[in-house]
Amino acid sequence: MRINSPNMNIIYKACVKASKSIIRDFGEIEKLQVSSKGPGDFVTAADKKSEKIIIEELLKAHPDYGILSEEAGIINKENTEKRWIIDPIDGTLNFLNGIPQFAISVAYEEKGEVICGIVFDPIKDEMFFAEKGSGAYLNNSRIRVSNKKKLKDTILVTGGPKFSSKNRENIFKEYIKISNSVDAPIRKFGSASLDLVSVACGRFDGYWQSELNYWDIAAGIVILKEAGGYIDFIENSEKNPIKKNIIATNSKIHQELSDVLLKKNIE
Ligand code: IPD
Ligand code: CA
Ligand code: CA
Repeated sequence: MRINSPNMNIIYKACVKASKSIIRDFGEIEKLQVSSKGPGDFVTAADKKSEKIIIEELLKAHPDYGILSEEAGIINKENTEKRWIIDPIDGTLNFLNGIPQFAISVAYEEKGEVICGIVFDPIKDEMFFAEKGSGAYLNNSRIRVSNKKKLKDTILVTGGPKFSSKNRENIFKEYIKISNSVDAPIRKFGSASLDLVSVACGRFDGYWQSELNYWDIAAGIVILKEAGGYIDFIENSEKNPIKKNIIATNSKIHQELSDVLLKKNIE
């Protein structure tokens, strides 16, 4: 595996260690599905366990680096120049339901820019990783985005927000409108980090989602860019730096997909 830099090596070790705990816990889920209590609390504990392992490894290597992590929040908040960004299990709902589509996502950021990161799907044993300037990889192979140039030839992926009684009608109308205008199959897989790296390796050609958290996508950002993809951050009205609305593509269909999503082509 082409893990070269010290920080990449630290992330690698943290991910591998956490994956062992996650794989063990995932094996227990099936039994819990049928128990009267259900797997809810167990999954929260699995998430926290994975996060604890990752944070311990990262702090052992660099006790002074900042950390932004989904469950633990911010650690070493004075260090904003050098930070780790962690999602210990991305795709929790899948995990909870015994669906093998989730990942560990860990990134290293310097002065606001993601320098390297890993998205590790422990069940399929697929490790996506990249470091700025060194290309993107899936296990031992270099990955590239797809070469499709027309939206009508693509396959796309999106995620959340979930339907609720408040937003059901709007989301449904929006979804129908977009599906009609895009004229390409759209999938929903429930793990933002894996959605993003799936564009990086050409399984999908484009991905968009609103209201993501930075930890969902931090590692995926550098992986996609290093694979030749393009990612746009669409301004959100809340001005919350953690919340992100994104359009990520193989770059060739970026304009066409953005026009549709940002309504330029919808009456
Ligand atoms: C979620 C997943 C999902 C996305 C949600 C995220 P979590 O992360 O990435 O695909 O649609 O917006 O919050 O809660 O499973 O870590
Ligand atoms: Ca997440
Ligand atoms: Ca998570």
